[in-house]
Amino acid sequence: MSSTNVPALLTLIETIETHFQRRQAKGDAVAWEIAKVLSLLEPLPPLVGAFPRNNHPATRHLEAALFSGNASTSGLLAALRPVAYDLPWRYSYAKREDAPGLEENIAFAEIIGPEAPFQSDRVCLGLTLVGPETLYPEHAHPAVELYYVAAGTATWIASDIPNLQPPGAFILHPSQVVHAMQTHRGPLLAVYAWSGNEVKTLSTYTEKSNP
Ligand SMILES: [Fe+2]
Repeated sequence: MSSTNVPALLTLIETIETHFQRRQAKGDAVAWEIAKVLSLLEPLPPLVGAFPRNNHPATRHLEAALFSGNASTSGLLAALRPVAYDLPWRYSYAKREDAPGLEENIAFAEIIGPEAPFQSDRVCLGLTLVGPETLYPEHAHPAVELYYVAAGTATWIASDIPNLQPPGAFILHPSQVVHAMQTHRGPLLAVYAWSGNEVKTLSTYTEKSNP
């Protein structure tokens, strides 16, 4: 990412924070996690790395995703459009024999985190992109995870309970809860935040995810 786009990236982070803040009034478990994440993002971790454009194959789904939100997420998608293709998209799991092509249909772009351009060992903030008709198989991780759906209505499964979640929905995955996502006709684009002392410990697919 050229330095000229850093202001747009800061605008994106601020916009995500604004969307999180709007949800805080409910005072439930999601609101508590939002408060925790926002406190960990203050002050904003230092920008220590570059954002090289990497043309991950999953980014072919970005165009559709960036224009498939709803009224509640239109401001977030507008803030994403100037920087979406410059984010550090990658796929962080090993290839799976039972799910060929998965690594070309799912990508993550971490903006803040242990290995991200904004370096933090206490909190991660990034985006998950899943192409249409794709199962992101069951997985788990020690960090608490908060998702905010920016675009796409997918089926989110946690502890074997499926829920259809539209743009604007928040989904909370407590530590080590097994979860998965199944997309349908359109792609899914969602903001994720990880908090806790174990943000450095990556996800692992569970044995249950094997057919
Ligand atoms: Fe997760």
